[in-house]
Parts: sequence; C-alpha cells; structure tokens
Amino acid sequence: MQVAGIRRAGAPVEVIETREPRPLARDEVLLEVMAAGVGNWDEFVRVGGWDVGAAPPTALGVEAAGTVTAAGGAVSDWAPGDAVLTHPLPLRDQGTWAPTLIAPAALLARKPRDVSWEAAAAFPVPALTAEQVLSDTLRVRAGEHLLVHGAGGVTGGLLVALAALRGAQVIATAGPSSRQRVSALGARHVIDYHDQDWPEHVRAVTDGHGAAAAASAAPGGAASAIRAVADGGRLATITSDPPAEQRGITVSSVYVRPDGRQLRDLATPFGDGRLEIPVGASYRLADAARALAQATAGHAGGAVVLTL
Ligand SMILES: NC(=O)c1ccc[n+]([C@@H]2O[C@H](COP(=O)([O-])OP(=O)(O)OC[C@H]3O[C@@H](n4cnc5c(N)ncnc54)[C@H](OP(=O)(O)O)[C@@H]3O)[C@@H](O)[C@H]2O)c1
Repeated sequence: MQVAGIRRAGAPVEVIETREPRPLARDEVLLEVMAAGVGNWDEFVRVGGWDVGAAPPTALGVEAAGTVTAAGGAVSDWAPGDAVLTHPLPLRDQGTWAPTLIAPAALLARKPRDVSWEAAAAFPVPALTAEQVLSDTLRVRAGEHLLVHGAGGVTGGLLVALAALRGAQVIATAGPSSRQRVSALGARHVIDYHDQDWPEHVRAVTDGHGAAAAASAAPGGAASAIRAVADGGRLATITSDPPAEQRGITVSSVYVRPDGRQLRDLATPFGDGRLEIPVGASYRLADAARALAQATAGHAGGAVVLTL
C-alpha cells in the first residue's frame, strides 16, 4: 500500500510503497484511516530520536481517527463500522500516515459523533499529554494557581481547558493573537510571554507567592516558568528542558504515554465541546513532508492533519 513515511532513519518523508497489513492478532483491530495527526514529535521519530516500535521502511504517524473494518478473535468491545481514535504505541505494524492501521483494541476510544475526523485525529497525543501532566504528574487540585506556559499551542490550550475543568485557577502565557482563545478556554489571567518579565507578572497576580504548580509547553521555556513557581511547588515540562531543582520545587519532564482508558475518558468532554482541537492545516497524504515541516515550524495556528 502507499503510505507517507521514510525509507530509512533520517530520510526525507515521501510517499512509499510498503507491505499490505498482515493478518490481525487476537487483540487487534484493522482501521481504515480517515485522518492522522502530524506533530513536531513525528520529526523526532523521523530522525531516530523517538522509538515508536516500527523500523523503516515504514509509515510515520502516531495518532489517527478512522473506522474499524475488522477485529481479532478476542476483541469484544469494537466491531466493523465503529468510528474511533487512537494513539497506538508501540506501533504493531506501521505508523498512522497510511490508508490502513493495525492497532491494539485496548488503545481505542470512540470518536464523538459531532467531532470532525481531522480534529479527532489530532486529539490523542496532546490530550493524553495534558491529562498526564495534570493528573499523574502535577496532581492539580481545585482552587490552586496553575501556570500554563505556552498556552497558545494545541497542547497548551488543552492544558488550560482541562485544568479549568478541574477547578484550578489558571494563569496562562500566550501571544497577542492567542490571548482571546486562551481566555475563553478558562484562563483567569493571560500574560504575554514576549514581555521578558512575565514571571514577575505571575507573582503579582498570586499575591507575590508564585503559582503552586506550572506546566510548560513552550520549547525552551521551563527555565523561565520556574521563576513563576512558588517555593516548594511543582513544575512539569513537556519540551525536554527541565531546569535544575531550586527552592524546593519538584521538576518533572513528561513524555506522553498511550492509555486507552484515559483516552476514552477524555473523549467525553471532547464530544460535548468542553475540550476542542483547532485544526490549523489539512493536507493530503502526498503532501506529508510539507505537513511535517509546518508542524515543526509551529505556526499553523492549530493542529496539522493529513486526510486520507
Ligand atoms: N513530551 C510530550 O510527550 C509532548 C506531547 C505533546 C507536545 N509536546 C511538545 O510541546 C510543545 C507544544 O506543543 P503544542 O502541541 O502546544 O505545539 P503548537 O500547537 O505547535 O504550539 C505553537 C504555539 O506555541 C506558542 N509558543 C511558541 N513559542 C513560545 C514561547 N517561547 N513561549 C510561549 N509560547 C510559545 C505560540 O503561541 P502564541 O500564539 O501564543 O504565540 C505558538 O503558536 C511542542 O514542542 C511539542 O513537541 C510534547
């Protein structure tokens, strides 16, 4: 079948001919992929910096939305025709930038009816990341001040929305063009990160203490974010830039983990509009290299997706 992927580690993304999907194992489903997410994390996969379980030549892509077309003998929860989304790691066969995908049934969530294929495809990685930062790492509690640095991005926006749903008092950083959207997602204060003194502004709106917890989704931004955290607080970064611990602040570097139960829980607020994914750009499979370049540049104004 024709997929968008790489012939070898580090090779450019192109449309390549790869093997047809193999017979299903008992716990697997076959999906007809309708759309697949593209993130700058796919660039790490391309150059060999993130092992997602598939060796080249292979399709890239670690998230997708599609329709179940076949199910293995031990699969009871899913049947042909079901519309689903998934972050199916480690990959069982190839990545998601392909017409078909073999995925473990345990890692599927039902696609909400009113959500587009594109938005559904771009949801799993940022949503799981945001949930894991807030629930598993920071354990954010209702009422406490949470800083989200880099709230103008897709993952940053989900961090704001999920934290607000948990009752946290969210303080966000965003540029002027994202300010209104971040505010609508539930941030009480939105501070422009272009002002170098922005951590001082966070302190000013927290009675001088700083935020109890902070999530940094701005590349290279964690060293600034820690300046806005209260003594003894918590900082989680998702951009591999953890600063040294200081003032009793716990610092964590978080990497997304596949989790079917969490994805199914997240699909509920996604379906009723409490969570959303802005789609910034949509490409055909043949233009996957351009899609990846745009996702890596980070100026799409929303998620980048491939439609099949
Ligand atoms: N560790 C993991 O498992 C994991 C998972 C998901 C994402 N990530 C990483 O997290 C980062 C953010 O992801 P995303 O999905 O939110 O990306 P995105 O949608 O591409 O974010 C782009 C936005 O980030 C904001 N931004 C850029 N530079 C900034 C800075 N210096 N300070 C504050 N905001 C800045 C800008 O928003 P404005 O409009 O406000 O300027 C920009 O529009 C990426 O580097 C991604 O690779 C990691």
